Amino acid sequence: MVVAGPPECMGRRRWFILATFVCLFAFSCGTELKVEHKHVDHHLTGYNHTLAKILVEYASAVYMSDLTQLFTWTCSRCSGLTEGFEIIELIVDVEHCLQSFVGVAKDLTAIVIAFRGTQEHSIQNWIEDLYWKQLDVNYPGMPDAMVHHGFYTAYHNSTIRPGILNAVERAKEYYGDLDIMVTGHSMGGAMASFCGLDLMVNTKAKNVQVMTFGQPRVGNAAFASYYSQLVPNTIRVTNEHDIVPHLPPYYRYFRQKTYHHFPREVWLHNIGVGSLVYQVEVVCDGSGEDPDCSRSVAGNSIADHLVYFGVELMCESWRSCGIVMDSLVSEYGKTDLKGNIVLSRDSILRMKTEMNVGEDHV
Ligand SMILES: *[C@@H]1O[C@H](CO)[C@@H](O)[C@H](O)[C@H]1NC(C)=O
Ligand SMILES: *[C@@H]1O[C@H](CO)[C@@H](O)[C@H](O)[C@H]1NC(C)=O
Repeated sequence: MVVAGPPECMGRRRWFILATFVCLFAFSCGTELKVEHKHVDHHLTGYNHTLAKILVEYASAVYMSDLTQLFTWTCSRCSGLTEGFEIIELIVDVEHCLQSFVGVAKDLTAIVIAFRGTQEHSIQNWIEDLYWKQLDVNYPGMPDAMVHHGFYTAYHNSTIRPGILNAVERAKEYYGDLDIMVTGHSMGGAMASFCGLDLMVNTKAKNVQVMTFGQPRVGNAAFASYYSQLVPNTIRVTNEHDIVPHLPPYYRYFRQKTYHHFPREVWLHNIGVGSLVYQVEVVCDGSGEDPDCSRSVAGNSIADHLVYFGVELMCESWRSCGIVMDSLVSEYGKTDLKGNIVLSRDSILRMKTEMNVGEDHV
């Protein structure tokens, strides 16, 4: 501590890293000091490590393709920190290969909305395409704010948005005005950010938090600026050398034309050597493009894209946009002409309400 000097004398982040190094040398105090500094970070930035570890499990579960297991929350990834989650609605846009769910997490007393990342033939191809994405859509109602149409339409021009807004309305009817937490990984993170913005701007939602994992850039600096004012409770978790947060590229010298992340990034970074490697969570500055966070390293890893906090964020297989569903859940389902599916717990909820079963109400 004497070596480090009083914490006000240096940047919070430096202090945090230094404290961690001090811990490495002291060997035994790691957890205690780390937690202490988390509290400092929480007050200033809203980052909550415990919540991140929970939400990453939702972002992982939404990749599962067995809709029966997902709907009944019995899938292999539907346990641990997400136990007891109740899906209100599961939406599969088969036409555009998108999947998301809305449900109620009673331990968080929150509605959780999760979006699946891409499930194309190969993640490599999807990533290569990211280099060439154009800023080609003007975000409605925000002068100069440009976004990429592929990310924008995945949320705004598919069966996903109406399904989600509808389910959020119903969840609020049954459970009251809960907080809303929106999450997703990769492409799903891009959709989560459009969803969070939509909820703040176009519905009466007040308490919306967004936390994404390894999301690409979605718009320009003007968009990032609107976004950060409208959805201030946003955390964009990035991991080590994960390539996707580096894409589409950011060109420092073309600020008006380039993609630009919104804040606030939290970068998971390993420090130390050998058996003393230690993961720190670097809470980044409010610019969205903190040069001392993931941008300080080369974005060259797909492996770092696929595992966050030790949790797998990918499909069980990359082959197709397949779905698996048995007749058990078909009574909750609606399928449109294009084969898009919505599984909804509406009828169960209505029944519960009619029977006035109190114990399930938060
Ligand atoms: C962090 O999130 C967890 C889970 O929602 C919550 O129980 C805890 O109180 C939060 N911590 C702070 C400091 O807000
Ligand atoms: C939205 O989807 C419809 C039909 O799928 C299509 O005709 C329309 O051009 C799309 N709009 C945008 C902005 O992509």
